[in-house]
Amino acid sequence: MPSGKFITFEGGDGAGKSTQIKRLAAAIEKTGLTVTVTREPGGSRGAETIRAMLLDPDAEWDPPTEALLHFAARADHYTTKIAPALKEGAWVLCDRFADSTRAYQGYGLGLDMGAIEALYEIALDDFVPDLTIILDIPVETGVERMIERGADPDRYEKMDTAFHERLRQGFLEIAKQDPDRCAVIDANNDIDTVTARIFDCVETRMGVTLER
Ligand code: TMP
Repeated sequence: MPSGKFITFEGGDGAGKSTQIKRLAAAIEKTGLTVTVTREPGGSRGAETIRAMLLDPDAEWDPPTEALLHFAARADHYTTKIAPALKEGAWVLCDRFADSTRAYQGYGLGLDMGAIEALYEIALDDFVPDLTIILDIPVETGVERMIERGADPDRYEKMDTAFHERLRQGFLEIAKQDPDRCAVIDANNDIDTVTARIFDCVETRMGVTLER
């Protein structure tokens, strides 16, 4: 059994995940624990190759192929990076994980949820995150933040508002179905307030004390 902890961050684009992950990683490290920060799709050599294929703006994957690619990337990421880090006792913070496939390919693109769960079992067996933090923001706010950031939009960021609204509702539904694992944090606030809410949540759920 792994001795570390696995915390995933989820939510729509522009919710501020990367900033918050950096802050949480620094605070956990200060307690003396080892932290590994990683992301999906990607995080390992093989998975980063698959990431480039998935995010290629010119690619035209159909939803089942897309889900297969996400889970292929995830299986490699889990085997080569996440599981070994957990075995060493690290706290692994992951920017997106399987809930993103449920939300994007399932709720967003309409792929059958049973098919997604079948792929999950093949790729990960019964492995689940210890905690999933879902950063929730209104779709328009996420879009505004993406525009401010000024980066070229990837395939998913180019999708229409209705798609992004389905994602948001999808993430909220996932949290409702699995409240012991998931915590929804209102990310429509200044960065420090969101950080404080995340720290409160991690302290309560994971039994650590973090320096503020
Ligand atoms: P990122 O921008 O957060 O790095 O993620 C890349 C994009 O990939 C993002 O728009 C969400 C999407 N995605 C999926 O569609 N399914 C998945 O399983 C994952 C992990 C990400």
